[in-house]
Amino acid sequence: MVNFRRWLITGGCGFIGRTLIHQLQNSGAAQSIRVLDNLSGGTADDLGAITKFTINDEESSTWRDGVELFIGDILDKSSVERSVKGADVVVHLAANTGVQPSIKNPRFDLDTNVVGTFNLLEASREAKVRKFIFASSGAPIGNSPPPFTETSPCKPISPYGASKLAGEAYCSAYQGSFGLETYALRFSNVYGPHSGKKGSVVAKFLSQIFNGECWQVNGSGTQTRDFIFSEDLVDAIIQAATYAQEGGLYQVATSEETTINSLIELLSKILEDNNIAVPKVVYGEHLPGDVPRNYADIRKSRLGLQWEPRTPLEVGLRKTVDWFVENNANDRVCQ
Ligand SMILES: NC(=O)c1ccc[n+]([C@@H]2O[C@H](COP(=O)([O-])OP(=O)(O)OC[C@H]3O[C@@H](n4cnc5c(N)ncnc54)[C@H](O)[C@@H]3O)[C@@H](O)[C@H]2O)c1
Repeated sequence: MVNFRRWLITGGCGFIGRTLIHQLQNSGAAQSIRVLDNLSGGTADDLGAITKFTINDEESSTWRDGVELFIGDILDKSSVERSVKGADVVVHLAANTGVQPSIKNPRFDLDTNVVGTFNLLEASREAKVRKFIFASSGAPIGNSPPPFTETSPCKPISPYGASKLAGEAYCSAYQGSFGLETYALRFSNVYGPHSGKKGSVVAKFLSQIFNGECWQVNGSGTQTRDFIFSEDLVDAIIQAATYAQEGGLYQVATSEETTINSLIELLSKILEDNNIAVPKVVYGEHLPGDVPRNYADIRKSRLGLQWEPRTPLEVGLRKTVDWFVENNANDRVCQ
């Protein structure tokens, strides 16, 4: 186990980035954390809600203890080079996230997720970064029958899946050609505290409650997802950076298949326990690019990362509901 001192986290103002920073600070695994974020999704206030930080607005690459924020874009080569210089570990989270935004604007998705990832890899190779962790997703696999494994054939059915697959391919190429130790981690569907701005299903349902809206289900609700609690997910990132040794592709999931209708049942029970009225459920059209079934085999991650998801779905959902309750004063309900 190696404790690296200097961590660059791209997209560190976002949902997973902030959860990771919180965990790194609690565990003492990092001495200096630098965030590169263009603030298009997460904000400086979001970052400030979990940690003290300084803004680095000088043209300086000098690392300081604690957390510092570089406001910059991963498509800007000089911002990327300046922020990567001196890093031991790069965790590349900044992205155009999600299937539907990629269908609305595939070129933007390509630029951010493919060219942006390339910029980070190229700067990391030049700066001799020790570990490069890339946030991938189950989306590269597309419509294959689950459980997905790291060797399942990839047939993405969305531009997002294609751009993440390209990122995985570049990680593999940079390890093969230049010896940069890269880890492409395929995150399943992540939920947890700090997800108030996310459009993924758990966050969407909880936001809908506090906006007085009904629960909108795309399709019949029989589609399945593999829900992973954010704190378990960031443990896998830390294990890849500090324990694992060979690089490669790893699935970070729970191996549990849950239908959207079962999620609704479980969330309804938790809301009732909290005296929160359960909204009406409205079923609509299936969305293009959404896969019907999704859960992942995690045997490779258990061994290679020495990692195990710890949080049962109900426990993680209760913590997530608590966070939404604490962070939303609104009590309108859709009946
Ligand atoms: N949340 C999930 O369920 C999930 C599942 C699979 C994969 N992922 C991947 O994990 C990563 C993090 O996801 P998240 O849920 O925290 O997303 P998020 O949208 O909450 O955070 C992304 C952050 O990246 C920043 N960003 C976006 N474009 C940028 C750019 N061009 N330059 C600099 N910063 C930029 C945003 O401002 C934001 O703070 C993403 O790569 C995403 O594709 C997430």
